[in-house]
Amino acid sequence: MQKQLKLVTLLILVGGLLVIFSNSTFRMPGNQQNYEPIQPIDFSHRLHAGEMEVPCQYCHYGASQSRHAGIPATNVCMNCHKYVSATRDDLRLEEEQASVEGRDMKPLTSLEIIKIYSAMGYDPQGNPVEGKAGKSVEWVKVHNIPDFVFFSHKPHITAGVDCADCHGDVSSMERIKQTEDLSMGWCLDCHRKDHESLTAAPERTQLLLDCATCHY
Ligand code: HEC
Ligand code: HEC
Ligand code: HEC
Ligand code: HEC
Ligand code: HEC
Repeated sequence: MQKQLKLVTLLILVGGLLVIFSNSTFRMPGNQQNYEPIQPIDFSHRLHAGEMEVPCQYCHYGASQSRHAGIPATNVCMNCHKYVSATRDDLRLEEEQASVEGRDMKPLTSLEIIKIYSAMGYDPQGNPVEGKAGKSVEWVKVHNIPDFVFFSHKPHITAGVDCADCHGDVSSMERIKQTEDLSMGWCLDCHRKDHESLTAAPERTQLLLDCATCHY
């Protein structure tokens, strides 16, 4: 009952909004297909998830257990970047340079990796600075579902839906981009499909199309 009342309020509210913005280009705010914002650190999924094949859920470990897949804390980056302060290419260049000049190699830290160290409260060489606290990296959120929609990763990952079905081929992306429009039609199209798990139980299919499944 509570749920139905809220839904009615929602429909009236949204109806009002639609009248106010009643032109054909109206979209829900913050829901933009092809959105590809610049991030504070030039982190590459193509390198980490593609070339190095780090599993998605090594970093996004919330996906199978909760609503949010989650963005990893800098600690997770430090599992490797404690030891990796520059790319192999840059290290090779410095090695060549040093041998030409007949000197020892200089320690190298790339500008992007200094940003990880600085978020940890570390110095540019990656060593803790006494009394200096870390602060989290302010990643720009790419995918945004409006507050009146309920979405959770858990049931999707449990049912075996692939990350790529909803996020595209992330492992080839230098920078993350929203590939789908995340519209209601998009959710419903997939919920209507003949998934094995769905055809097995017609009442499940019905549930997946119910307004109250996705709207409070
Ligand atoms: C080494 C850690 C790491 C791995 C592995 C990784 N990611 Fe990410 N992911 C991040 C970080 C950090 C961000 C936030 C910065 C950004 O958007 O690039 C992010 C952002 C995202 C976003 C955008 C979130 C938003 O703001 O809406 C999606 C979608 C995503 N990752 C999916 C994937 C998928 C799918 C895989 C596997 C193919 C994967 N990630 C592998 C660290 C990782
Ligand atoms: C059924 C579609 C679907 C699948 C499958 C899916 N996602 Fe998402 N993902 C979304 C939607 C929709 C959002 C936006 C959620 C929001 O705004 O609350 C999102 C948001 C995210 C975010 C931003 C942070 C968060 O959790 O809200 C990350 C990171 C992410 N997804 C990673 C992944 C990874 C990794 C996988 C596979 C393990 C995956 N997603 C599978 C639809 C999906
Ligand atoms: C599994 C190990 C691993 C994890 C976890 C990891 N990285 Fe990396 N990362 C590497 C390696 C190895 C390289 C260097 C690749 C090369 O030689 O080209 C690298 C390269 C980079 C670079 C490129 C540096 C440059 O100079 O171009 C950035 C930026 C980066 N990582 C950011 C991150 C961030 C941010 C996280 C956490 C969200 C993270 N990495 C997690 C292994 C990792
Ligand atoms: C690529 C296919 C696909 C897309 C896209 C998709 N879903 Fe789903 N959804 C599924 C499957 C499969 C299940 C699990 C069905 C089952 O367990 O019987 C599911 C389950 C759910 C559930 C859990 C229902 C319950 O109570 O058990 C919710 C809520 C949900 N989806 C919301 C959404 C929303 C909101 C969107 C769009 C933002 C969306 N889904 C997009 C395939 C999809
Ligand atoms: C599978 C999930 C899902 C189901 C089921 C669902 N919706 Fe939605 N609905 C959404 C999503 C996601 C949005 C946000 C779309 C956007 O951001 O553009 C939305 C948006 C809306 C809006 C805002 C206007 C618009 O079209 O963007 C209204 C009104 C609405 N839904 C009503 C309903 C009604 C009525 C039902 C039942 C017949 C229903 N929804 C069933 C996912 C769902």
